[in-house]
Amino acid sequence: MTSDPIVQATAGAAPGARIGQPVDRIDGILKVTGRATYGYEHRIGRAPAHGCILGASIARGRILEIDVREAERAPGVILVMTHRNAPDQPEFGAAVTATVPEVFTRARPVLASERVRYHDEPVALVVAESFEEARHAARLIRLRYETEPGAFDPVAPDAEIYRPGRTNAGFPTDSEHGDFEGAFSVAPVQIDASYRTPFESHNPMEPHAAIAEWEGDRLTVHTATQTVANIQAGLASTLRVPPENIRIVSPFIGGGFGAKLILHPETICAALAARVLNRPVKVALTRQQMFANAGHRPAMRQRVRLGADRDGRLTAIGHEVLASTARFEEFAEQSAVPTRALYAAPNRRTTHRLIRLDTNRGEWMRAPGEASGLLALECAIDELAERLGLDPIALRIRNEPERDPELGVPFSSRNLVACMRVGAERFGWRDRPLRPGSRREGRWLIGYGMAAAIRGNYLGPGSARVAIDAAGQVTVQADMTDIGTGTYTILAQVAAERLGVPLDAIRVMLGDSRLPRTAGSGGSWGATSSATAVHNACLALRQRIATAAASHAASPLRGSNAIEAHFADGALRLGARSESLERLLARIAPEGLAAEGSAVRGETYRTYSQHAFGAHFAEVAVDIDSGEARLRRMLGVFAAGRILNPKTARSQLIGGMVWGVGAALMEETVLDRRHGHFVNHDLAEYHVPVHADIPDVDVMFVPEEDDKGNPLGAKGIGELGNCGAGAAVANAVYNATGVRVRDFPITLDKIF
Ligand code: MOS
Repeated sequence: MTSDPIVQATAGAAPGARIGQPVDRIDGILKVTGRATYGYEHRIGRAPAHGCILGASIARGRILEIDVREAERAPGVILVMTHRNAPDQPEFGAAVTATVPEVFTRARPVLASERVRYHDEPVALVVAESFEEARHAARLIRLRYETEPGAFDPVAPDAEIYRPGRTNAGFPTDSEHGDFEGAFSVAPVQIDASYRTPFESHNPMEPHAAIAEWEGDRLTVHTATQTVANIQAGLASTLRVPPENIRIVSPFIGGGFGAKLILHPETICAALAARVLNRPVKVALTRQQMFANAGHRPAMRQRVRLGADRDGRLTAIGHEVLASTARFEEFAEQSAVPTRALYAAPNRRTTHRLIRLDTNRGEWMRAPGEASGLLALECAIDELAERLGLDPIALRIRNEPERDPELGVPFSSRNLVACMRVGAERFGWRDRPLRPGSRREGRWLIGYGMAAAIRGNYLGPGSARVAIDAAGQVTVQADMTDIGTGTYTILAQVAAERLGVPLDAIRVMLGDSRLPRTAGSGGSWGATSSATAVHNACLALRQRIATAAASHAASPLRGSNAIEAHFADGALRLGARSESLERLLARIAPEGLAAEGSAVRGETYRTYSQHAFGAHFAEVAVDIDSGEARLRRMLGVFAAGRILNPKTARSQLIGGMVWGVGAALMEETVLDRRHGHFVNHDLAEYHVPVHADIPDVDVMFVPEEDDKGNPLGAKGIGELGNCGAGAAVANAVYNATGVRVRDFPITLDKIF
């Protein structure tokens, strides 16, 4: 078994640092020196065998014949697993535990029948002594299929459209306020625009990978996940093993972006094969397999209708979303949900509808809902501003709501206007070309664009444990993950501040299902939720230390009032007397003290509408002949509560903004409409922005503290940078060219 994941702040990492300071990542040195161990790399006691998945070469149909004889005879091969010999698994969807949302608990059997539901769905697993041997043997498997016609066109005019029960994250499918159709039809100014967004794929640098090892009926899985509890629950259902018998270990993760929230085939394959062989087995998805097997953002058509009076006051807002989903499993991205809270208007309608395709299901992809939804809404608002001859910022300010326009409750805090004003000043918005297509520098047309950002602020229930030993060393423990976002660092900062100890006295242990349960990393709730649990655990630990210090026979502070405890500079002061924690603990608790704390979503999540806000500004240049659009500079200004660490926060937000640039200009997973496979399934052909595409991105924060969401006053930021960022770029392309492309991405062929 591998040693426990332990990350310790190094002395070089600004020992005095506290919440709100730009502390370097405490896990940074481990990562850049190769000592951080990822899912596929863990060394475990017994050498694992290597699995290689063979995917189906059809998208819908069934396997008629599968001949594995040659593969089984190939060098190094230990096992060839297909639907004919895979261990019995429950039907898809059967759930055995309810400790995480049902979608994560569903049994997801692999190699379970001759049915093929999507292209590249696993049809065989070859296990060999080396990966190369397994891969070679996988190619020797002969398959004969019966292919059935499938649905592969996300915009097919004759597709059957249906209404899902709920959208992702439990948001209602539709919302209706006032008389949208009536108000829109009589509005003096109308925008009625349809936008298309393609399939998009999140492809973390680290592909999905797992090492599975059984000891009797107990399973340990080293893997890469955003939420260990989800993988534990999904495996429990799929393997029919009690969740408490499954340990998930995931201390370092090479990026998640929503792709690592749910159980995927490589982990199930590894667990099944390891059980059959009674030997550890490791399996990773190849980069190409990631595209079909690790989810995607669904393709969409969105219709936005805006009715306004001649002063630009919105009277009607309508946002209708039509998205693709899988035939075998529903996923409804909540793309019209941000529209429910962004602008005031008495008459409103949002709807979500789905069409079934024979692809894998969609998944949560960074800023699920907002990334796609705001690409439509915030471009439509820009179109309205143009029609009215109004500054897009002035139009947005005119429609700033007093309260949440659909829920009717106040916002916990809402500093969108401040973000726009500060951003306009910093960016030089007043110098923008007022007439589209009017500014030229050599062969480049120059344009400015902006858009608003909104993202719900959430809190996921969970807990954390904080312990202090007799040497004054503090250990923070939670099953929370750090997917590259900086969790280790901010949790150390919170504990250091709350306990009044230097940062280098803190070590943080994460990503292990044996540690206190959290909601993991996802939905931008990771930092606030886990930091809240650590904050509360520290308060409980303080009380425990103070109480012992005031009463313990060996305590130099005995007899003091425990209520007047101050923790600072590594010492506890009770009233007038003070003692270092190290000396104190050695006397009163040589075995150390520990406490747990939890994060609970309170009533304020019902009585306030909670969101983070921001404003994006982009300048682009478009080649006058080729139509090539290039970002020149970009600014994001954000109001996201108290910023726990401006350095990691800035990195998160820049990353999100780069996603927006990709969505606006480059990203598209192309589905072959004849055979149903994703054609550009690698990072050579799936275009994402690279360094040369991102010249100058700036991030600013509007100071904000929000006491409604959590005791730290913080809000989530992971998705926020991506919310509206694409629309700012798209609006800049329009401003540069006078051409409004509503079919994303805005590639050069669509501009001129
Ligand atoms: Mo979030 S969809 O887990 O980036």
